[in-house]
Amino acid sequence: MHGIHRTILNRLLAAWVVVSLLTGAAVSWMGVSRIDGQLVALATTELLKTATASLPLLDRAESERNALNQLAADFVRHHAVAVEFRDRNRNKVAAAVNPLHADLDQNLRTQAYSFPADDDRHFKKLTAEGQTVLRILVPVKESAGGIAGYFEGTFLIDQETVGRLRHEMIVTLLVVLFAVTLTTICLYPVILSLNRDVMRYSNDLLKGNVELMEVLGSAIAKRDAATNIHNYRVASYAVRLAEKVGLKHGEIRDLIAGAFLHDVGKIGISDNILLKPGPLDADEFEIMRTHVTLGVDIIRKSDWLQNARDVVEFHHEKFDGSGYIRGLAGEAIPVTARIFAIVDVFDALTSKRPYKEAFPFAQAMTILQQSAGTHFDPRLATAFAGIAEGLFREVSNTPDEAVELRLQALITKYFFARR
Ligand code: C2E
Ligand code: SIN
Ligand code: SIN
Ligand code: FE
Repeated sequence: MHGIHRTILNRLLAAWVVVSLLTGAAVSWMGVSRIDGQLVALATTELLKTATASLPLLDRAESERNALNQLAADFVRHHAVAVEFRDRNRNKVAAAVNPLHADLDQNLRTQAYSFPADDDRHFKKLTAEGQTVLRILVPVKESAGGIAGYFEGTFLIDQETVGRLRHEMIVTLLVVLFAVTLTTICLYPVILSLNRDVMRYSNDLLKGNVELMEVLGSAIAKRDAATNIHNYRVASYAVRLAEKVGLKHGEIRDLIAGAFLHDVGKIGISDNILLKPGPLDADEFEIMRTHVTLGVDIIRKSDWLQNARDVVEFHHEKFDGSGYIRGLAGEAIPVTARIFAIVDVFDALTSKRPYKEAFPFAQAMTILQQSAGTHFDPRLATAFAGIAEGLFREVSNTPDEAVELRLQALITKYFFARR
């Protein structure tokens, strides 16, 4: 599985877990509130009927409370653990306890009790002897709206009703979790396909940029040679030296772009200098040197081509500081440019130029070795000396098309391959 697929899968799984936990918690919380609400509503409805019936009886004197006591006894037998009537002054005027739940009632009475301060309905959940009860208080209202008294009932929560409501809640929970899971499963291929599109677009863009790099490199090569094989050769040499000295993947990519574009500024050098069959005089060489600044200027417009900038700008610096255009020395010269300088000169020496014939390999190597420490980073020059003969033989014995193909493989490896 590609790294990107695993990343998408991991993120989706994480999202699935989080959303499932959150919705699960929300559904459970809502379910519990709903169960409480329904139980309270059922019990309150019963209470309110009897509360209305009690209205004319609440103010009677103590000797006339038989009817009220009867009302309490009837109610408690059918519905409750215990009930109480209070008058408008909140004094208890009648009460009844269901004999079946006398122990539970006794136990509940040991718990702190406070009469609510306002005249709204109230309910409270209490537990005793492992059972849960609801204590509900309703005000008994006169028709004018005033408070005539209070009726309070303590109800054992009906396990059958609770079980039914809890079952409904679990079903809801499972449906929600199923929906979340299904959504996640459906999202995965959608995200994968969107990602594939993005990858394709970004690959097309990269392909366009690599083509731009090759096109620009070939444009300048055509000025002084029939082919752009020089670019392919120096790029191959540069990659092999870079791999040998352990450059990072990204540095090698920049080095390839630099190899293609290093002399792009020569586009701005006139033919009478660029193609001059003999040595340049000082003024001409002064102009020739501007190919570096011209090159930097040409690639300035493209962010992507900036990857080549270190090589374009510093490929004529020398290790001892005597090069151009800055006179940088040693490690101040980017390593890509230090590597490129070696392979560029090596290829210039072993190739025919408008102004010179090709040197034999051995002579080229002698010139190169003499410049180690002055023109070239000695460590890199030594590393190159170790591989130069093999590289040279390989390239000389290979048709130009094959050199180009081999470099295309390196471009694929360093620009396009997923790592
Ligand atoms: P280029 O031909 O690609 O050469 C690149 C570099 O290779 C040169 O950078 C130089 O460091 C090295 N090089 C090339 N040929 C020789 C050589 O015969 N002996 C030695 N020791 N080194 C050599 P440099 O000198 O900064 O030149 C930059 C560019 O200027 C050259 O690129 C070439 O296009 C042009 N150029 C340099 N000298 C002459 C010349 O005498 N006549 C003409 N027509 N162009 C020249
Ligand atoms: C060049 O493009 O600078 C020279 C071509 C070659 O070396 O064959
Ligand atoms: C060159 O080939 O670029 C010139 C090298 C030199 O004249 O030393
Ligand atoms: Fe150059």
